[in-house]
Amino acid sequence: MADTLDRALLEWYDSRRRDLPWRRQRDPYRIWVSEVMLQQTRVETAIPYYLRWLERFPDLLSLARAPEEEVLALWSGLGYYSRARNLHAAVREVASRYGGEVPRDPDAFAALPGVGEYTAGAVLSIAYGLRLPAVDGNALRVLVRLGALEGDITRTAVRREAVRLAARLVPEDRPGDFNQALMELGGSVCVPRRPRCGDCPITAWCEARRRGLEGVLPRRTRR
Ligand code: ADE
Repeated sequence: MADTLDRALLEWYDSRRRDLPWRRQRDPYRIWVSEVMLQQTRVETAIPYYLRWLERFPDLLSLARAPEEEVLALWSGLGYYSRARNLHAAVREVASRYGGEVPRDPDAFAALPGVGEYTAGAVLSIAYGLRLPAVDGNALRVLVRLGALEGDITRTAVRREAVRLAARLVPEDRPGDFNQALMELGGSVCVPRRPRCGDCPITAWCEARRRGLEGVLPRRTRR
């Protein structure tokens, strides 16, 4: 077995990596579209929308130039229309302010409509290979267990601590794969109620497991 957490996680990811449409290239615009769609939509549902979207809007400028009605019509069925409106507005801003090129600066990118810390980290790590964390709900649960973070997972302080932990762990050489591996681990193995620690590639580093807390973390004290 690999002797560091990042190698063990990447080996696991490589052994089960799914061939998804947004994983066939590294175009920041295309990665961005996939991350926005995946925020509230399952992979299997998102795929046909994603393919149709890219057929109609193959690059950032084609989306920037499109009328809003058409953008919303193509989003129709995915729900949460603010995601499409924000994406459209953000892409228009990239076209006008950054010459159509998605900014590499995480703060500049995260300042665009609808782009938060998560989306910026995901797109810039996957598309540009920048060493940034990308912590969605699934990755957050993994990180809380990994570091045995005891606070209420719904609190901002715990989230910040988890993001700091992720920022320390994400490797220089494959940050995008590492981030996606952490999200997939949370979605398939480090699941909410009964984590399947027997199938986990990083149990050796898991502080919750070491302390026997994998069944009680993450904590939710408020309800
Ligand atoms: N959830 C959202 N984006 C994802 C990605 N790029 N890989 C795996 N899970 C995700």
